[in-house]
Amino acid sequence: MDTVSSRGTGEAPVVVRTRAELAAARSEVKGTLALVPTMGALHEGHRSLMRHAREKGDTVVVSIFVNPLQFGPDEDFDRYPRTFDDDLAACTAEGVDLVFAPSREVMYPHEPQVTIRSGPMGEVVEGAARPGHFDGMLTVVMKLFQLVRPDVAFFGQKDAQQLAMIRRMVADLDVPVRVEGVPTVREPDGLALSSRNRYLSPEERKTALALSRALRAGEEAAEAGPDAVVRAARAVLDEAVTADPPLRPDYLVLVDPATFTEVGGSYSGPAVLAVAGRVGTTHLIDNVPLRFGPSAA
Ligand code: PAF
Repeated sequence: MDTVSSRGTGEAPVVVRTRAELAAARSEVKGTLALVPTMGALHEGHRSLMRHAREKGDTVVVSIFVNPLQFGPDEDFDRYPRTFDDDLAACTAEGVDLVFAPSREVMYPHEPQVTIRSGPMGEVVEGAARPGHFDGMLTVVMKLFQLVRPDVAFFGQKDAQQLAMIRRMVADLDVPVRVEGVPTVREPDGLALSSRNRYLSPEERKTALALSRALRAGEEAAEAGPDAVVRAARAVLDEAVTADPPLRPDYLVLVDPATFTEVGGSYSGPAVLAVAGRVGTTHLIDNVPLRFGPSAA
């Protein structure tokens, strides 16, 4: 088997599946190690994370693990796309050095008793729509940080609350990892890239565009202040509720990006307009960063 240091340019990444293999590969790494944690089904958004990691890291590691802990009992864990060969091709094209692809048994050799609790911030917005999701997500991210020991880790801004929660975990628990957010990648018509987009039929995909349209409408109303933003975005969602197939909105909120508490009225400072909804059986989320107040221009 190739080792991380003997791998030539353009060669496929070294793939490790066990803790021992990962530890052996990790011990060879010199310089900055950049980690891109993923659940596979890699798309252009993930490739953008890898490119940012490639810029900042001497060694780039991608983890691929569909984490059962972050799926609710009625969610899509079983049907979540598993596309390892295509994922490996994407990692090769982006010059990734090492892929860590553990099985469930490797990641959770026994049922975990002690897990990360996301606290109040994990119970609002997406956390209210998906109870327990952020606890499971933070638990696996913490385990990946412990196993891979990266210097820097990259996460998409599309999962804005996830990114905020990971930053908070790292700050609150003194985890020695730098966390970097990478802007959302969109299709030309505005749809945010997501591994779940492949569940959508062409008609459902048309309805799903209401999410990014709502965000754009909100963005365009930003000069009129926070409440106008929410009103403009809501009007778009209200229309999509009557589409065929319909959008079933889960939430539309304007929040402080660091705490995910709602803002409005005369709020001044950075904000995130976040939206989520179901089309058919697919749960989709999206958001856009905004800024209010004197420095907004
Ligand atoms: O964003 C994801 O793909 C997942 O939530 C993550 C961060 C890889 C944890 O399983």
